[in-house]
Amino acid sequence: MKDDYELLDSGDGRKLERFGDYVLARPCSQAMWRPELSESEWSRADASFDREDGNRWHGRVNLPKEWRIETAGVKFKLGGTDFGHLGIFPEQRAQWKWIRSKVAEEGEKRGAKISVLNLFAYSGGSTMAAALGGAEACHLDASRGMVEWARENAVLNGLGSAPIRWIVDDAHKFMKREIRRGRSYDGIILDPPTFGRGASGEMYKIERDLKETLGLVRDLLSANPAFVLFSSHTPGLSCHVAENVLGQLFPSASLESGEMLLEGSALKCPSGIYCRAIF
Ligand SMILES: C[S@@+](CC[C@H](N)C(=O)[O-])C[C@H]1O[C@@H](n2cnc3c(N)ncnc32)[C@H](O)[C@@H]1O
Repeated sequence: MKDDYELLDSGDGRKLERFGDYVLARPCSQAMWRPELSESEWSRADASFDREDGNRWHGRVNLPKEWRIETAGVKFKLGGTDFGHLGIFPEQRAQWKWIRSKVAEEGEKRGAKISVLNLFAYSGGSTMAAALGGAEACHLDASRGMVEWARENAVLNGLGSAPIRWIVDDAHKFMKREIRRGRSYDGIILDPPTFGRGASGEMYKIERDLKETLGLVRDLLSANPAFVLFSSHTPGLSCHVAENVLGQLFPSASLESGEMLLEGSALKCPSGIYCRAIF
């Protein structure tokens, strides 16, 4: 499978990654070890980003305004945002592969498309994976700009007329509305931020709100659910925390959890956790 992403090195609080034709150096607080490549190899980065005195790109002029890559079977439009994000979290690659094959397997077993809701969906990697696996998808993010970006990604993936609903809203508001309407989903994916803002400025704080979020997720699951896939980048939110929370809510499900990793030719670099509840 074609893959345009590679972690080339990490260490001293930085990571060096290749996204197609472009190599970028960005902060990575987990990388407490020493880099394996030499300084001159790091200096070959086309651009770098740091947070030393405010968020700052160096060499941004070397990057096109936007470019495309394909990784884990999903095509993405990338671009350097002011916050150092590019429109992709490549540590999710293993989840995208899992979502696609799980959705395809469930669709085959049931002889019908399953429905999948992707919350806090950013540029839509998980939405694409679900739709490519044959799901009817619902993509939600509070940021209109990110939903537009995800729609462009859908077109890139040949999913321009696929059954995907695009929603700009606060996650809790939307879920409560869907529950009132009697809607339900066979699979729900969520990657809540540590701290975020809803579409009308509603504050989201994972420590305060996760229990409510997952309660709403449980109430939105169909009578014959397939899975819930939770992931998080919040420091201190370990696999055991996620397993305890999901295990109490879904006692009949089997749980799988682990670290999300940035991977390539270098040492693996942990970047958050995932937990799957499989029914
Ligand atoms: C960590 S990113 C998700 C990354 C994504 N799962 C991926 O791997 O590509 C968090 C996203 O949540 C969105 N967000 C923050 N607060 C929200 C809220 N209250 N309701 C809905 N979306 C929200 C942000 O706009 C952002 O796109």
